[in-house]
Amino acid sequence: MSSTPLASIKGLSKRFGGIAAVSDVSFDLVAGEVTALIGPNGAGKTTLINLVTGVLACDGGTISLEGEDITARPTHQRGTAGIARTYQTPQIAHGMSVLTNVMAGAYRFGQHGLLSSVFRPWVVMKENDEMAARAAQCLTRAGVAEQWWQRLATDLPYGLQRRVEIARSLAQDPKLLLLDEPAAGLNPSETADLSRLLSEIAADGRAVLLVEHDMGMVMSISSHIVVVNFGRKLAEGTPKDIASNKDVIAAYLGADEAVA
Ligand SMILES: Nc1ncnc2c1ncn2[C@@H]1O[C@H](COP(=O)(O)OP(=O)(O)O)[C@@H](O)[C@H]1O
Ligand SMILES: [Mg+2]
Repeated sequence: MSSTPLASIKGLSKRFGGIAAVSDVSFDLVAGEVTALIGPNGAGKTTLINLVTGVLACDGGTISLEGEDITARPTHQRGTAGIARTYQTPQIAHGMSVLTNVMAGAYRFGQHGLLSSVFRPWVVMKENDEMAARAAQCLTRAGVAEQWWQRLATDLPYGLQRRVEIARSLAQDPKLLLLDEPAAGLNPSETADLSRLLSEIAADGRAVLLVEHDMGMVMSISSHIVVVNFGRKLAEGTPKDIASNKDVIAAYLGADEAVA
């Protein structure tokens, strides 16, 4: 890869008791590109996302963002530094409207704390308006029509909840966006919309890490693919390299899945 990576993962490892969920995995993430992370169920993909976002502490290895080692930083600091994610099962706050859910993603841009809200409420109201405007913009971009914005987010159909999650992560204006199986449960036309959206998000100049089983989607929008199996990196390369890699084909056939 010629461009300087936005983020680098080096020798990352994580054990759960006797299970080596992630073993010595290294790869780079480049701004403006979708990098796919694929592998059979249980290969360690979600664990890797949890290590990069800081939800889990790693046992070994380093994660750097824009040349800075962030391995020891807590999750919220990684969020402020520009890392956002979506979950394998949408994590939508109960009892909150769609708009409020997405505004929660924009909170890191808030400048004014509790004291302001007591003594200078007009400042906070203005800030709230700005966050609502940002949330509205992100919802529109993620393809959630305005008719849904005041509804309870948990009342939305599944496909739309996934879009709300992406809108919330976009409201953080991330440099690196990690998506855990975003096409799971979507129909082909929703998946095609999602592919377009993720390509556009990368074209903004963000690095996108896509964990996904839909090989059509992976092959069509990724610049680079990393394959993991039993926690280890099995291969990495362009979609063309990966589609013809014998180890990858064997791992997928072993798991009763085929690389398209
Ligand atoms: N919190 C946990 N505690 C114990 N084992 C876990 C935990 N999370 C994941 N694992 C195990 O680690 C391995 C990798 O899991 P995971 O990262 O979820 O894989 P993938 O997302 O690729 O399907 C699996 O064997 C899984 O059972
Ligand atoms: Mg997973």
